[in-house]
Amino acid sequence: MTKEKFTVTAALPYANGPLHLGHVAGVYLPSDIFVRFLRMNNHDVAFICGSDEHGAAITLRAKKEGVTPKEIVDKYDGIIGKAFKAFDISFDVFHRTSSAIHHETAQEFFKVLDDKGHFTKETSEQYYDEDYDQFLADRYITGTCPSCKTEDAYGDQCEKCGSALSPTDLINPKSTLSGKTPIMRSTSHWYLPMQNHEQWLKEWIKEGKLDGIHHHDPSKWRNQVVGQCMSWIDGGLRPRAMTRDLDWGVTVPVEGSDGKVLYVWMDAPIGYISATKQWALENNKNWKDYWTGDRKLVHFIGKDNIVFHAIIFPILLKAHGDLILPENVPAYEFLNLEGAKLSTSRNWAVWLHEYIESYPDKMDELKYVLTSIAPEAKDSEFTWKEYQARINNELADILGNFVNRALVLTQKYYAGKVPPLGKLTDHDKDVIAQIKAIPEKISALVYKYKLREAQAEAMNLARLGNKYLADMEPWRLMKTDPVRVETIMNIALQITANLSLVLQPFLPATADKLSEFLDFKTTEWSASGKIDLISADHLTNKPSILFQKIEDTIVELEVAKLEATKKIDTAFEPQKEDATFDEFSKIDIRLGTIIDAEKVKKADKLLKLTVDTGIDKRTIISGISKHYNAEEVIGKKVTVLMNLPPRKIRGVESQGMILMAEDAQGNLSFMCPEKDFEAGSGIH
Ligand code: 2FM
Ligand code: ZN
Repeated sequence: MTKEKFTVTAALPYANGPLHLGHVAGVYLPSDIFVRFLRMNNHDVAFICGSDEHGAAITLRAKKEGVTPKEIVDKYDGIIGKAFKAFDISFDVFHRTSSAIHHETAQEFFKVLDDKGHFTKETSEQYYDEDYDQFLADRYITGTCPSCKTEDAYGDQCEKCGSALSPTDLINPKSTLSGKTPIMRSTSHWYLPMQNHEQWLKEWIKEGKLDGIHHHDPSKWRNQVVGQCMSWIDGGLRPRAMTRDLDWGVTVPVEGSDGKVLYVWMDAPIGYISATKQWALENNKNWKDYWTGDRKLVHFIGKDNIVFHAIIFPILLKAHGDLILPENVPAYEFLNLEGAKLSTSRNWAVWLHEYIESYPDKMDELKYVLTSIAPEAKDSEFTWKEYQARINNELADILGNFVNRALVLTQKYYAGKVPPLGKLTDHDKDVIAQIKAIPEKISALVYKYKLREAQAEAMNLARLGNKYLADMEPWRLMKTDPVRVETIMNIALQITANLSLVLQPFLPATADKLSEFLDFKTTEWSASGKIDLISADHLTNKPSILFQKIEDTIVELEVAKLEATKKIDTAFEPQKEDATFDEFSKIDIRLGTIIDAEKVKKADKLLKLTVDTGIDKRTIISGISKHYNAEEVIGKKVTVLMNLPPRKIRGVESQGMILMAEDAQGNLSFMCPEKDFEAGSGIH
């Protein structure tokens, strides 16, 4: 294989929450396997990732947690970065889009395109939330997807069917801030006229040609990726806004853009470039070498990212003029969990950082299981039962068992020394041919991004070894034909040495252990398939157990934990931030009796109430007239917030507030005492 140049990216995770196994199985683990394999083949590789720290995913999370966006990204960038390290994902760089170098890079990129006339500036009516004084784009607005009719599609994308949307495409749009139907307001933005790019995109995606010249092998692109892109292109591309009215993000670097930032899906993929720049700076390299020329750019992503990496970013890269386009965009489907969809909001997820904390010495076990079930062609499912079965029946019983037998017998018969290879039987020759064939199969599969099958082939080598020892029964032959046993054990040790090589991309820690046992290490893939990796008389070490079996109690515990920590799917707001007891005790709440009520003129929501509070009779304006009429409220004993500073409402001073219960549909109810207590009774 000739040496090639690769820039491999893994989708930048949003720094708005920790990583779960779906992220790992569908992006970070496969990209890591691919890169480790490329490195072993001495290709020139840069492996790029970082935190995606802009956009509504971040600002909405900050609002929910009641902190600033900066606090959110710092917190989750830390948690995510730490988890990647512990899980040993071998990025060359893990960067951040909040960094200065990223802001500069993204701004420069925007300017280049703007100067070349690739954007149009358009003024249009956009959804606006009056309560929050904010335009509503992307995740600030949800509604029904016009394509698949799923509710809760975002303003820029339906995550269910992958359609890229604009807020005005949504049916029944609702603001995620106030929950209300937004109004329209005029604003100007920079648009990318994507319709001008349809022709070359089609040729590039379907035929793998760019400007008529061969660019990539389109048969290597996954069907779902090509399918999603083509259906989008065939539906007709439209201009897409590349800027937003937001106060968190990369400032638009041109005049007349006050209060505007780059659309997060323009800024985030440029994050791959700025991360490369940072890495190049630190390592005395030139970043441009990684984004120009005959280099292969590969984007590992989840399927909800397809249009952004296979259409929008390529348009931006090509428009820039001198940068390479992706050679492939291997996209993964979704991973389900224990019979249900993974869900962050319902906390139906196995969180990587929690797994690491519970099982700090079982990284390869998880890697093995996740690659075995990787959602390459369709959605797949993680269950703790399968986790247990794969570890016990495959890693422990096949790989662990074989390696242990080979090394323990070597200790026993030869005090650890590798015996010589003698005369080969036909059976031996057949086994040797299989040993030679396996690395080639793995290699062909990896270059086709079929990592699940590739790992299965690597395990086949362990299977082969296990079967070879079981068939040859050296422990029986030792008494009658010790010379024959030398050959058998030599072959078994060569298989073990080969395993220490071919497992490296998939199970790096296990491969390292094998190397220690054998006192042999090579990282050259080209050595694999050889049966003279370790020579006769080489001294091996005593092995230890490679994989502990997973007890049933672990499975039960983990499933119970999922059930116990899952949140109910609810339309209610999450619990608010803690209030101190001091804050609470400042609030004065009492029972009061409504003694008079009338409608407030020209205000169809409001009632003017006179309330006997036990210490005075006061006026309270209450927005309940849609739920109660004036006559029916007189005489009711209700809950009154006494010490709210008086406010003028429609010219009348309101001296407090009637507290109401509100259900998920927005219906209101008084909270009346269960016993007939008198007005003025305090509520604590
Ligand atoms: O879907 C996501 O999690 C995005 N944060 C991925 C961004 S990938 C790249 F473009 F930065
Ligand atoms: Zn949809």
